[in-house]
Amino acid sequence: MRWMEQDKDVQCAETPHIKSPKNPTTQPQPRTPQHTTPRVMATPPSITTTNLLLRGLLPSFLGCAPSTCGAFQMTWRKDLEGRGVENGGLTGKLTWNLGKKHGSEQIANILPKDDANDPNFGAAIEQLWNAIEKSVNELAKSGKVLKKYDYQSEEDALTALGGDIMDGGQISSRDKRLKKEKKEGKALAPEAVCVGHVLNDDGSTYALALLHGDSLIELSSLGTIKILREKNESAVVCNKKKCEVTVKFCVIPADEKLVDGVAGPENASNIDLSQCMEKNIRDEEGLKYKVYMEQLALKAIKSDAVASPEIISPEQVQEMDVADDMVVTAFEVSGNIDYSKLIDKFGSKPLTPYLLKRLENVTVKRGTVDKLHRFLRREIFFSHRDIEKICELLEEWYGVSPPPEDEENDLPATAATYTEPTTQCPLYLYTGRGPSSSAMHLGHLVPFLFTAWLQKAFRCPLVIQMTDDEKFLFKGEYSGDNAGDEGAADPNRTGDNLDHFANLTIENAKDIIACDFIKDKTFIFSDLDYVGRMYPNIVRIWKAVTVNQVNGVFGFDSSSNIGKVAFPAIQAAPSFGSSFPKVLGGGKANAVTLACLIPCAIDQDPYFRLTRDIAHKLVPRHHPLQGKPALIHSKFFPPLQGAQGKMSSSDTNSAIFLTDTPEDIERKIKVHAFSGGQETKKLQEELGANLDVDVSYQWLRFFLEDDDELIKIGQSYGSGKGEFWSTGLVKAKLVEVLKHLVADHQNRRKNVIEDVVREWMSERCIL
Ligand code: TYM
Repeated sequence: MRWMEQDKDVQCAETPHIKSPKNPTTQPQPRTPQHTTPRVMATPPSITTTNLLLRGLLPSFLGCAPSTCGAFQMTWRKDLEGRGVENGGLTGKLTWNLGKKHGSEQIANILPKDDANDPNFGAAIEQLWNAIEKSVNELAKSGKVLKKYDYQSEEDALTALGGDIMDGGQISSRDKRLKKEKKEGKALAPEAVCVGHVLNDDGSTYALALLHGDSLIELSSLGTIKILREKNESAVVCNKKKCEVTVKFCVIPADEKLVDGVAGPENASNIDLSQCMEKNIRDEEGLKYKVYMEQLALKAIKSDAVASPEIISPEQVQEMDVADDMVVTAFEVSGNIDYSKLIDKFGSKPLTPYLLKRLENVTVKRGTVDKLHRFLRREIFFSHRDIEKICELLEEWYGVSPPPEDEENDLPATAATYTEPTTQCPLYLYTGRGPSSSAMHLGHLVPFLFTAWLQKAFRCPLVIQMTDDEKFLFKGEYSGDNAGDEGAADPNRTGDNLDHFANLTIENAKDIIACDFIKDKTFIFSDLDYVGRMYPNIVRIWKAVTVNQVNGVFGFDSSSNIGKVAFPAIQAAPSFGSSFPKVLGGGKANAVTLACLIPCAIDQDPYFRLTRDIAHKLVPRHHPLQGKPALIHSKFFPPLQGAQGKMSSSDTNSAIFLTDTPEDIERKIKVHAFSGGQETKKLQEELGANLDVDVSYQWLRFFLEDDDELIKIGQSYGSGKGEFWSTGLVKAKLVEVLKHLVADHQNRRKNVIEDVVREWMSERCIL
């Protein structure tokens, strides 16, 4: 438990810095030490407090676990006068070791890469320090509660609170001490330690850390924190071999109102650690920084494409897009998503009440379904391309008129007046899945449940693409080992994970089949198996699209593997009936002129924008939509931690999987579901919950079928009065709904053995 650093013009000596917890108000060392050498100093409270804040901030900014934090060091420096610190001053330095490969396995944020020859590297680093400095100063002024827990020994603190309270330096000091004790056969006298705890407004933990100092000061009395950013100060090393972020800071000037210590809790069970241990970006500046880096990358690609490299200032980039802090691409969804803005940005159209009425006219009135799907009733499917043309086609096919536009009028047709057409349905549905993990989550169910409903409502054929090729091309890299070497079958050695994704196709297909499609009207195919049939269309698409177009839409660059650049054509090909000569042709119909409707979440839209642009080149003139696939887009099913982004398979605590047990479901919802409820019972009863951000309520919107019950829950919870007045009660309702949903799914899936999957995947006519 000792610290020491030799900085360029600094003399610091090792010092026992922990004093008795019985004397919690021990006075700090003066902040402007005398220039005598060697010097012995305890860590001053302003530095200890800033260290604690950064221990909470950096993981939430970078999107990594707090335990990746490396060692903390403290220095005294003469050369700070130029930065407003008289007579030199004290600085602290914290290092985060984030693994290799640009930290991609450890962090969610994107860092400037020192091996990328990036002309914007300097600006991106400067922006990083600005963002961290802004965040830490805001944090200091946030009014968060700060507690100081005293323990008789490090052992006591660890037993009570667990190993994650230590940083890398503390862990190695402890290891050395234990080794020494073992060698000498006797234990050193225990030293008292203290632990700092910063709490969020909702009582959860922002930071919990064993401290390099025995005193903390109130956040309100912490002075301005400066991130030191000259040579040998703060630094980012981010390349394929190593990813490390070092933040060096000083605090000027601090008015030191000490926090009184209290005896630390005996165990961590009453401390809500769920948020601070998550590997996602929770800091607003961190999210903005991520968007800023993405914009830089995109800008670089675009400038590359027009051969006019242009360096933009961080401020310009932030103005461009960060204002709305949302990212929706085919590969990433994050930030606060404003769906109306997304419609504007993507150029799709909102699904209006009149369009819903037209859909109702050709489905409910036909008698194939009871009512519009709850995803339509609740605007979860909210945007479209050419749905009005799909309605037109169906109206023509059934021989019914569209309903009057006047909202007041009821629909003209009833189930009784429909005569089922004898000709083939003029459209087919197409959707898909990129099998990236064996367990699918509830978010993935959204398009499949809806597609199953559409298939039932339209009684039409459906093709489902499993893009095992996509996942192979986008995930992982080859390692140095040759396929022929010893251990070649082990994908961990060769990096060849093609078989792995091919197997996931089968596992995911079981979940998809369990969504209740009409078997003799559904064809599920793996790209790896079926691509030959689509190949004539794939080469047609390749010829119609330039590399610049693909790079512009998907953000690839010249270092992307060529499979990635070629892949969009493979996802585009099933939009053309002619890619299924047997499945959609089969002698009964002309597959070439069938219209295609694609249900998906809006992240997949970029693929089909591209497809629509070139579609006319692949179809005859009389194709009803000139070859363009129509689309119906859903919003994202949010992750448990909050309404930002979309649920992701890589963070198991952000998602409920279709393989989860009832206990998993209950635990995840109770512990992790973000609550829009108020902090206290009194406030909740007075103000009610914020339903827009409350994950449990939002999830009920997706999965509770009964409209009346949903309205009742919303009214009660939103006002803090009545049967569902509290978060606990709403969570309990959600647990009940999801336990049923997942159990029913698992029961259906049980019967889907591999032979059954093979039947659904066999090439046959499904008209
Ligand atoms: P994939 O496997 O990422 O996602 C499969 C489908 O699930 C949707 N989705 C979500 N919907 C709501 N909330 C969420 N949190 C959520 N997460 C994922 C996706 O939009 C998608 O519809 N490249 C595709 C596979 C594909 C495909 C298609 C998808 C091939 N052809 C045609 C749709 C339509 C992919 O990797 O999807």
